[in-house]
Amino acid sequence: MRNYDKKYVSGSKSMLHGGDYNPDQWLDRPDVLADDVKYMQLAHTNAFSIGMFSWSSLESEEGVYHFEWLDDIFENIHQIGGKILLATPSGARPAWLSQEYPEVLRVNAERQKQLHGGRHNHCFTSKVYREKTQQINRMLAERYGKHPALLMWHVSNEYGGECHCDQCQSAFRNWLKEKYNNDLQSLNNAWWTPFWSHTYSDWSQIESPSQIGEKEVHGLNLDWRRFVTDQTISFYKDEIAPLREVTPDVPVTTNFMADTDDLIPFQGLDYSKFAKYVDVVTWDAYPAWHNDWETTADLAMKVGFIDDLYRSLKQQPFLLLESTPSQVNWHKVNKAKRPGMHLLSAMQMVAHGSDSIMYFQWRKSRGSSEKFHGAVVDHDNSTGNRVFQEVAKVGETLEKLNSVVGTNRPADVAILYDWDSNWALNDAQGFGMETKHYPQTLQQHYRTFWEKNIPVDVITKENDFMNYKLLIVPMLYLVSEETIARLKTFVANGGTLIMTYISGIVNENDLTYLGGWHSDLQEVFGINPIETDTLYPKDKNHVSYQNESYELKDYATILDMKGAKTEGMYLEDFYANTSAVTSHSYKNGKAYYIGARLDKAFHESFYSTLIEELDLEEDLPVKSGKSVSVQVRRDNKNDYIFIMNFTEKPQTVNFEKKVKDMITGEQLKGEMQLEKYGVKIGISPRQSTK
Ligand code: GLA
Ligand code: ZN
Repeated sequence: MRNYDKKYVSGSKSMLHGGDYNPDQWLDRPDVLADDVKYMQLAHTNAFSIGMFSWSSLESEEGVYHFEWLDDIFENIHQIGGKILLATPSGARPAWLSQEYPEVLRVNAERQKQLHGGRHNHCFTSKVYREKTQQINRMLAERYGKHPALLMWHVSNEYGGECHCDQCQSAFRNWLKEKYNNDLQSLNNAWWTPFWSHTYSDWSQIESPSQIGEKEVHGLNLDWRRFVTDQTISFYKDEIAPLREVTPDVPVTTNFMADTDDLIPFQGLDYSKFAKYVDVVTWDAYPAWHNDWETTADLAMKVGFIDDLYRSLKQQPFLLLESTPSQVNWHKVNKAKRPGMHLLSAMQMVAHGSDSIMYFQWRKSRGSSEKFHGAVVDHDNSTGNRVFQEVAKVGETLEKLNSVVGTNRPADVAILYDWDSNWALNDAQGFGMETKHYPQTLQQHYRTFWEKNIPVDVITKENDFMNYKLLIVPMLYLVSEETIARLKTFVANGGTLIMTYISGIVNENDLTYLGGWHSDLQEVFGINPIETDTLYPKDKNHVSYQNESYELKDYATILDMKGAKTEGMYLEDFYANTSAVTSHSYKNGKAYYIGARLDKAFHESFYSTLIEELDLEEDLPVKSGKSVSVQVRRDNKNDYIFIMNFTEKPQTVNFEKKVKDMITGEQLKGEMQLEKYGVKIGISPRQSTK
């Protein structure tokens, strides 16, 4: 089951605990650096990402290098048994580089050249920047590649954004030429360019989308986003070339993100493509715990969803590379994590597949924009304050969880997330302009499984569908014929497939399917969706399902029945008494269509029926209520059971079978109270054969 050991945490079989360490901010304070090493041990930390913003400290002028300070840091950390995730510094460049080679500066969509400043803002096409990055990366690899403390490469930092400079325009045109086999007519066809007389007669006329230019050719927008992903990956591949060459056995990663405040997967890059080029997926999680618009359990559910997506990208454990031990400094309101929340939120990450808890950052900066961002060591330099103590507690806990490292989290249920479809749907002028909410809709479908402690893989079209009993495909607006064929095979072979309103509308070029719903989908679902009604926020309608009435909002699809069975009916409006939810047996499997955006209660009822029918519930040794999450990681011998109270009140949990507490060593048995934000981690010999 530990199928990823080779390139993953080759030097360590321990849970990683630590974070971004930026000693170059403190080089004139040897006393502070000395404290760091002492405190790292007190905090039970063992892994540090170093150098992600160190370029100007490493190369103060072009060709003038200073590695001595980093040599010392490597030694200091090595001496306390710590490991280093060495960053390449391309995330922020020195001023001399921008000054000497202005082509590295980005041009924004309005075609304005940006000044030097900030970070994460280089041109991803610039040959000079690629060369400069390779140069410094090679030097780092040659100098530290064999150092026993080196664990992993942390490449750049949070890649994102786009550049519209001339070099990027020509790279985009070349990308298009390759995609369309040098055939401009086929591009014009794919983009439906005769509309508004947008037909291109020469490749040089094509420009990236812009508010001051072309913004409504949807095929162009979609291809541009795909290009941005590919060009970012291309930059990354250049970055890692010297690392692969000099240190072929050292794993490589780059930190992925989520979009906050409404915690959803990062929208800017298609991580399903990017994941192929990292050895381990890592991400930076900053949920707004204790916010005033949702319950703690609601937010925990969303965090779980992203974890399950990023874990499923490579079907192996991931690493939490950044989080805050207390506050962040860029939410609208930067609230402190309440006592207990740090351990709880950390354990949730591990429960969903993380083999690390890392922070941004080790020591709070003294100046500049992140001087108030939570850190392990605060400005008071104290190891006695609440935050430091809670971090140390997480460290002590992780030390007892080393046997969990590398274990899996097998699931029979999958939800399909698709970046292409999300981009195309957001671009679509139609439906509700503000109610599309694709990622949020998927989270709503995920909820019932999370509440019932049934593991879910959130997969992409890159994953194999055949591994699952149940595949849920909400709002798959854009779908290629190839994916349709794979969905059909999935059902034919015995799978249960759920699809919803606004699915199967356009192909991979964002061109609508003509002549009704795709014939393969009609065959599998036994329906033809003929009209999608879009509602105002105050409009109400209901669907009856299993003798109950459930509220719908935003979307309702009117269906032409072609052999499917009616499971739910619309109750109001001109489509009252027509089918809203259907089921259809196709070969060895079954396909359900949910025609309307239905409420939480419907999902609970609908999925509960399926969970029973498909026998998806595992016989866990512990039973609990909805807001107590029980998540399991597993190896050949054991289940590692994480029991987490995401409420502000004590909750009763019932251990029906004996489970050994991995932290205290005691036997957990019978009924017990789990305190507010309480967490228990138990180990139990394998219960089931799943
Ligand atoms: C991101 C960055 C870090 C830091 C944190 C602060 O995740 O990668 O460098 O700025 O945000 O939350
Ligand atoms: Zn550029």
